[in-house]
Amino acid sequence: MERLVIVSNRVPLPRQRGTQAGGLAVALRDVFGKAEGLWFGWSGEVTDQTSGELRFTRAGRMTYAVMDLGREDYERFYNGFSNACLWPLLHYRLGLLDFHREDYHGYMAVNRAMAAALKPLLRPWDRIWVHDYHLIPLGQELRKLGVENPIGFFLHTPFPPADLFESLPAHESLGECFASYDLVGLQTERDRRCFHGFVVRSLGGEVRADGKFEVFGRHSRMGAFGVGIDAAAFAELAAESGSGDETVRLKESLAGRQLAIGVDRLDFSKGLPSRFRAYGQLLERWPEHRSKVTYLQIAPHSRGEIAAYRTLRRELEQIAGRINGKHAEFDWQPLRYLNKALTRPVLAGFYRLSRIGLVTPLRDGMNLVAKEYVAAQPPQDPGVLILSRFAGAAESLTAALLVNPFDADSMADAMHAALVMPFEERHARWQAMMQQLKADGAAWWAHRFLATLDAASRDAHPLS
Ligand code: UDP
Ligand code: G6P
Repeated sequence: MERLVIVSNRVPLPRQRGTQAGGLAVALRDVFGKAEGLWFGWSGEVTDQTSGELRFTRAGRMTYAVMDLGREDYERFYNGFSNACLWPLLHYRLGLLDFHREDYHGYMAVNRAMAAALKPLLRPWDRIWVHDYHLIPLGQELRKLGVENPIGFFLHTPFPPADLFESLPAHESLGECFASYDLVGLQTERDRRCFHGFVVRSLGGEVRADGKFEVFGRHSRMGAFGVGIDAAAFAELAAESGSGDETVRLKESLAGRQLAIGVDRLDFSKGLPSRFRAYGQLLERWPEHRSKVTYLQIAPHSRGEIAAYRTLRRELEQIAGRINGKHAEFDWQPLRYLNKALTRPVLAGFYRLSRIGLVTPLRDGMNLVAKEYVAAQPPQDPGVLILSRFAGAAESLTAALLVNPFDADSMADAMHAALVMPFEERHARWQAMMQQLKADGAAWWAHRFLATLDAASRDAHPLS
C-alpha cells in the first residue's frame, strides 16, 4: 500500500507537540491526515557517537523513526554547516556566513548516515518527501544506495539570487544534489526565479517553461508551492482559546490597553532589533500612545550555541531594557519580552486579543505566524497585520500593511496607522487576507506538491 515518508531534521514527536517553535514541523503536522506515514529524522538528542540506531514511536497510522547525532556530527552538521553557513546564506546574510570545509564534510557524512539508516525502512510504493536545507544531499545519498522511489525536496527557507549562492564554496556539489530529486519545491515565485537563475547561470543547466530542468545529465522539475495553514481550524482554536485561562489573564493584565504582538524564534532573520526600535520610535513620536499600548514579544531561544544567535540575544536585551527604562510607568511596562515558547493554542488566543500583529522579518521563507495571526482574528473586531514585504507570506497577504523592515521610521508609521485605523478598513483588509488563506491551506500545499511529484516521477520512469 502507498505510504508517505517524510524526512526532516526536526521531527515533532507526539509527546513534544505543541511546544516546539518552527514552521516546518507545524506545516507538516496537518499533511498526513488519515494516510499511513513514516516520519524520519533527528531525535533532537546528542550522544557520543552517531550510531545510526533508530527509536520508533507509533501514533495512529504514523510511525516516527528517529536517530541521535554524535557530538561532533551535531557540531559540524547542525551548528556548523546547516545553521552557521547555509541558514544565513539562504537568508541573504553573506556577512554572517561562516564556512569551514570540515563542517561541510560533517554535513555530507550525516546525510549519508541518515540515508543508510532510512533505506531498510523503505517499501517499493513509498513516496519520499525530504524537507529543508539540512538534508539537501539526502536524495542523492538514497539514489546511491539504489532507492528508485519518487523523491521530492521542499525548501522551507528563501532561495537567494544566484550571485549570492555562488559565494558558497560547495555550491556546485549542492546543485548536483538538488538535481537528484524528481521535484524541487520552493516557497514563492521569487525563490523559484532565483533557483532557476542558479541552475542556468551558475550550473550551466537548462530550464523549460513548465519547470522541468536538466543539469549534470540529470532531469528534474522545480516549482513554487507556498506553505499554508488550515485557517478555519486555527480560527476555531483561537475562538476557543479566547476564553482560556492564559488569554483571560493576559487580558486582565492589559487593563484596557491595546496589545501589539510578535512571535518569532530568536533568530537574526526575524528583524527583531529594528522592530524594537520602531516601537521605541512610536512611543517617542506619538506620545498619545504611551500607556495606551503594550507590545508583547514572544521570542523562544533558538540555536543558542551559535555565536550570531548569542550576539542577537544580548542586543535585544539591551534594546528592550532601554525602551522600558525610558518609557515605563509604575503601572505600565511598554515592552514585555519573553524568551520561552508557548503552545499554539495559547498563541492563538493571544493573537485574537491583539490589535496589531508584528511580523517584520528581514527575510523569511513563508512565515506561518503571519497567517496564524490573520486566521485568529475575531470578525467583529479584527486586528491589523504589519508584514515585511520580504516574508514569503507577503506574496499572498497583500492586504496587510506591508513594510520594509530595514526602515524603522516607516515601521513606526505603520504601527501608528494600525492603532488609529477605522473598523471598516481593518475589516476589509482582514477579509481579503482570510479569503486568500482559505484558498491555499496546508492540505492544498501538500496535495499540489505530491501531485506534481507523481507527475515528475512518471516522466522519469515512464514504464513503471
Ligand atoms: N510557535 C509556537 N510557539 C512559540 C513560537 C512559535 O508554537 O512559542 C510556532 C508558531 O505558531 C508557528 C511556528 O512556530 O506555527 C513558527 O513558524 P514560522 O514560519 O513563523 O517561523 P520559523 O520558526 O519556521 O522560522
Ligand atoms: C525553521 C526551519 C526548520 C527548523 C525550524 C526550527 O522553520 O525552516 O527547518 O526546524 O526553523 O529550528 P531548529 O533549528 O530548532 O530545528
